[in-house]
Amino acid sequence: MKTKIYDFKNTIKNNSLNEIVGILKSGGLVAIPTETVYGLGANGLNKTAVSNIFKAKNRPMDNPLILHISNIDQIYDLTTDVKNEDIRKIEKLWPGPLTVIFNKSEIIPDEVSAKLDTVAIRMPNNEIISKIIDRLDKPIAAPSANLSTKPSPTNVDAVIEDMDGRIDAIIDGGDCNIGIESTVLDLSEDIPRILRPGFYTKEILEKYWPNIEMDLSLKEKSATPKSPGQKYKHYAPNATIEVLIGDDEDFRKEVLNLLDEYSDKKIGLMVFDDDKETFNNKNIESIVYMGSKDDLSYMAKILFDSFRKMDDNNIEHIIVRGVEEEDFGLSIMNRLKKASSQNIRRV
Ligand code: TXA
Ligand code: MG
Repeated sequence: MKTKIYDFKNTIKNNSLNEIVGILKSGGLVAIPTETVYGLGANGLNKTAVSNIFKAKNRPMDNPLILHISNIDQIYDLTTDVKNEDIRKIEKLWPGPLTVIFNKSEIIPDEVSAKLDTVAIRMPNNEIISKIIDRLDKPIAAPSANLSTKPSPTNVDAVIEDMDGRIDAIIDGGDCNIGIESTVLDLSEDIPRILRPGFYTKEILEKYWPNIEMDLSLKEKSATPKSPGQKYKHYAPNATIEVLIGDDEDFRKEVLNLLDEYSDKKIGLMVFDDDKETFNNKNIESIVYMGSKDDLSYMAKILFDSFRKMDDNNIEHIIVRGVEEEDFGLSIMNRLKKASSQNIRRV
């Protein structure tokens, strides 16, 4: 299949927009930017189109998809038993990086919800996808636009790497601002529960839902996650990953030891700007500086792309400086745990 690339970095072209909506109407697949990561979109009410998303990504069929909407009123056709008081709260957080799980209505195809009784809905904060949803006049089902198990794509090059030749079109909307996926919040049961941590942290969401809880699996290794996607291998580059958490001095000393130990391997290092002095003139194949450890937003933004760049440089093993599992650090560590297959150590 020839994949057409549309450049919407500077302007959203009207003719191209019509073509893209045409592709989606006829059941095609289009990779579309959002503020979190790129999504692999299809008409969310077309069963065949939705099934093709799973084929293009090699995604297990039991992992349900998020339906993206552009107007909060679209919730009512897609769900049942939504509480007005929840809607008023969600209105303050949308458009944005929050996915909400509701009881589903009968129009949701089994392919979207993986036969669960619930459906995931999100209103993304991105003009390109919002305009497409408006014109299509249907929700867009979209998982992240990576091959299953790979890091989510945060720029068009990453999407092209995984999806060129597998889908009808890719829209270049520039780099995603946030860089990790939305927070998944389950409101289908009595107690509001975070199933996947993201940009909206427990601390932020607690202001809206004071009795909010974290899914047990986010705290205990042994618990089964309620979000099917959380049980799969995820976000992993070809290189192996080792995550080290510790104070500046301990961390730096341990890395210097490891660099000796791994002297026969091509090593990649991901550290904070403060660590520059220690590692700058060491003989390290590839170093990424992740900004300040007092503001993790840059780390989140470049995390997945850095993994991909390390693969492009044939790095065999990546050492990443981990962070404390609190606030936004919890969301970042959730991605690092999966990417490293839990290879995390305190030094
Ligand atoms: O930021 C995002 O959420 C991106 C952009 C494209 O919107 N999308 C994304 O989709 O990350 P995906 O498919 O990679 O992750 C969706 C997560 C999976 O862990 C899935 O299991 C969970 O949401 N999910 C979807 N429907 C669910 C449901 N009904 N109940 C529980 N979890 C659900
Ligand atoms: Mg994904």
